[in-house]
Amino acid sequence: MRVTTDRHITNVALIGFMGTGKSTVGRIVAEHLKFEFLDTDALIEERSGKKINEIFAQNGEPAFRELEAQLMQELDSRTNTVISTGGGLPTNPANLDSLKKHSLVLCLWLSPEKIFERVREQSHRPILHGPDPLGKIRTLLAAREPFYKQADVLINSDLRSAREVATQVINQFRLVTRT
Ligand code: S3P
Repeated sequence: MRVTTDRHITNVALIGFMGTGKSTVGRIVAEHLKFEFLDTDALIEERSGKKINEIFAQNGEPAFRELEAQLMQELDSRTNTVISTGGGLPTNPANLDSLKKHSLVLCLWLSPEKIFERVREQSHRPILHGPDPLGKIRTLLAAREPFYKQADVLINSDLRSAREVATQVINQFRLVTRT
C-alpha cells in the first residue's frame, strides 16, 4: 500500500465502477466505525434538486462532472467520514488527488459480467441507457481501469458479501490509522 506521510488520513473513500457496491459497503463501514456516510451522487441530487438522469439530460455530463469536482474541493476539511463516490469521479485526476489528501482510497472491483448482472434491472444510470449496456460496461471499465488502480487498496468484491467487503475495508483503514 502506498500511503505517504504528506497525507492525513481521517476518512475512507470508496471508488469503483457502477454496481460494485460502494454505497452498500460504505454504509456498513460507516456504521461500524461510527463515521458519517456521504454519497457524492446523493449529495449532488439533494443540492441540485434533480435526479442524476435529469442533470445528464438537461445540463449534460460535463455539468455533472463539474458538480462532482466542486464537491471534492469541499471535502478537504472532512474527518470521520466514509465517502462513497460516483463511478466516473476518479477519472478526473484532481478528484483523486483531493481524496488522497484526507482519505484511504479503496477501489471495489468486479468483472464486467458481474456488474451487468447487478445493474441490468436498474434505470437510474444514464451512462448505461444505450442499446448494449454490457458492451458499454466493458469498454468503459477498460478505459477507467488505470484510474481505479491508483487506489491505495484494490478489493475484488466478486464472491464476497457486502459485509465481508466492509470488514476488509475496516481492517485496511485500521491498519493505516492504527485505530
Ligand atoms: C456514473 C456513475 C454513477 C453516477 C452517474 C455516472 C459513472 O454513480 O455518478 O450516473 O460515470 O460511472 P454509481 O457508481 O454510484 O452508480
